Amino acid sequence: MVRVGFIGVGMMGMGQVNAFAQVKNAQIVAASDTSPVSLGKFAEKHPKAKTYSHHSELLKDNNVDAVVVVTPTYFHKDIAIEAMKSGRPVLTEKPMARTVADCHKMNEASAKTKKLLMVAHCRRFDTDWGAWAKIFKSGALGGPVLWRDVAGGAFSLYNPSGWFLDEKLGGGPLIDGAVHNYDFANLLFGKAESVVASSIKLSKHTAVDTACAVVRYESGNQLLMSWSWAIGSGQSLRDVLGPKAAMSFGAGELATPELDTTNYGYYLVADASRQKKKLIKFPRKDMYVVQAKHFIDCVEGKAKCISPGTEAIKAVAVAEAILKAGPLGREVKVKY
Ligand SMILES: NC(=O)c1ccc[n+]([C@@H]2O[C@H](COP(=O)([O-])OP(=O)(O)OC[C@H]3O[C@@H](n4cnc5c(N)ncnc54)[C@H](O)[C@@H]3O)[C@@H](O)[C@H]2O)c1
Repeated sequence: MVRVGFIGVGMMGMGQVNAFAQVKNAQIVAASDTSPVSLGKFAEKHPKAKTYSHHSELLKDNNVDAVVVVTPTYFHKDIAIEAMKSGRPVLTEKPMARTVADCHKMNEASAKTKKLLMVAHCRRFDTDWGAWAKIFKSGALGGPVLWRDVAGGAFSLYNPSGWFLDEKLGGGPLIDGAVHNYDFANLLFGKAESVVASSIKLSKHTAVDTACAVVRYESGNQLLMSWSWAIGSGQSLRDVLGPKAAMSFGAGELATPELDTTNYGYYLVADASRQKKKLIKFPRKDMYVVQAKHFIDCVEGKAKCISPGTEAIKAVAVAEAILKAGPLGREVKVKY
């Protein structure tokens, strides 16, 4: 049994707590948060667990074997390092940290303390994105491919926690949201070499809230991103185009009311002429529970971590290049 302590139990922190609650070998024993409101909500659900207003107090608790860091991004580095130095393996939320320099310090601490540093890149544990990875790897699309991902939403208007769009604390959507895509593209496409980007700021917040970017990989594959947290969500687009076939997320024109969309997800794969079309079906699973189980398995020595800090730093490197390229409007090399 691994006794787990959570640092930061806001929106995602409680999501992590709920995920770990479903893992057989995990026991929720403590939480710390600077907000009494967040701590109160945690205590209501887990009255037997200890609560602390400062993370250093939690790290003095000998009943805590492993730590999950779910604070605003800017605090991941210092808290994760302190936790590893206290002898605990750490799962920290994505983005690993706000800057590449901070990520390096975290990886150095992990190497020095010999403590696991896993980053919660939940899409690595997702049956949905996992299914598209399988299609890509099968060669069905041909290559190189262009992965297009267009997302938006007027997050800046309702912005539940102000830190998300604070340039230093959260960094805005081009790091906080899009880092999922950078990490997954890095996993599938290999080394990202450069980016081109164009950004604008539509809200009063300090972070860039709207940008379009293309990430170029050494393999020839490309990731096209367009993200905004300042305009209406409109139509989101997520597809992958290859020379042999194109794949769209969802059943697209083959959607029928008979499809079981509760238990299964679907991708539509169409050949270049769009004459031959087929549906790929995959079972839906809660990626957060799969991720939590993987962390516990790693702590217990039953698995090798598939989402270590040494991989996650590369996604922050892509984000940093995009944030730099946006205002310049020209190509920027990715620096690791
Ligand atoms: N993987 C995902 O799908 C996903 C989704 C949302 C958020 N996240 C990530 O999770 C992290 C937290 O996001 P959130 O949505 O829960 O934010 P949030 O603002 O809802 O919660 C953050 C919590 O951390 C607490 N906190 C702040 N400073 C602290 C400190 N020094 N020590 C302890 N607690 C502190 C706050 O009081 C708050 O309760 C971010 O890094 C975010 O990018 C990941």
